[in-house]
Amino acid sequence: ATADNRPPVIWLHFQECTGCTESLIRSGHPDPAALILDLISLDYQETLMVGSGHQAEKSLEDSMKANWGKYILVVEGAVPLAKDGIYCKVAGKTAVDSLRDVSEGAAAVICIGTCAAFGGVQAADPNPTQAVSAASLIKDKPVINIPGCPPSPYNLLATILYYLTFKKLPKLDKLNRPEFAYGRRIHEHCERRPHFDAGRFAEQFGDKGHSEGYCLYKLGCKGPVTFANCSVQRFNDVGVWPVSMGHPCIGCTEPDVMFHTSIYDKP
Ligand code: SF4
Ligand code: SF4
Ligand code: F3S
Repeated sequence: ATADNRPPVIWLHFQECTGCTESLIRSGHPDPAALILDLISLDYQETLMVGSGHQAEKSLEDSMKANWGKYILVVEGAVPLAKDGIYCKVAGKTAVDSLRDVSEGAAAVICIGTCAAFGGVQAADPNPTQAVSAASLIKDKPVINIPGCPPSPYNLLATILYYLTFKKLPKLDKLNRPEFAYGRRIHEHCERRPHFDAGRFAEQFGDKGHSEGYCLYKLGCKGPVTFANCSVQRFNDVGVWPVSMGHPCIGCTEPDVMFHTSIYDKP
């Protein structure tokens, strides 16, 4: 830990869109300033850190040296393996080399977002860079997956706060997702569920059933096979989530649903 006992966190960006970081900095309790300045010591994060270039890389080296074996590594993004990893480089180093080197001294690795946890967009067919999930490359550390594209920031914050409070990791499911957030299907708590049970479905985007809040299953909703807390936790502290806005769930927290099915295919 740092001198003031805040746990050190190193955050690496690989093949990704930075949407997971964008999601995190829109959280409200705790707000990102309290998280970064009071609760953890965020020693390296390419989007949020003030330093750049050699100064930034020195922060990474310094933190690794000072906190070897104790820091939490957060990874955002997939890792390309084609052509020795040249499709993703930061500071002259490939993602695959950085992940190996930085994960070696980590106490645990949190894979934030579906890219890091399961490969995500980059790993979709035909996968020209041979992208794989960061999680699949970590063999000798505890790995916690927080999938979603992007995930709810509270699933990450709650995992970090759980660790800080209880000094252990939360209970995980078979895909290494925290059970408190990914233990139930979103279908179980969806506000359109009474319409599903009564057989009332939107048949087309913009039809009467769609505008009256009917179930989106016939528009391709993957809620019945998607484990996540979107229908309970919701997003942006304003109580909305994809299905409440009229969009079918695309199963973004699942490895085998997103990118393997089209929402425009009839289920
Ligand atoms: Fe972006 Fe989605 Fe990947 Fe997060 S999981 S980095 S939001 S593409
Ligand atoms: Fe289930 Fe989706 Fe229908 Fe909601 S909209 S009840 S999640 S199928
Ligand atoms: Fe993703 Fe479905 Fe939630 S698309 S954000 S798991 S509602």
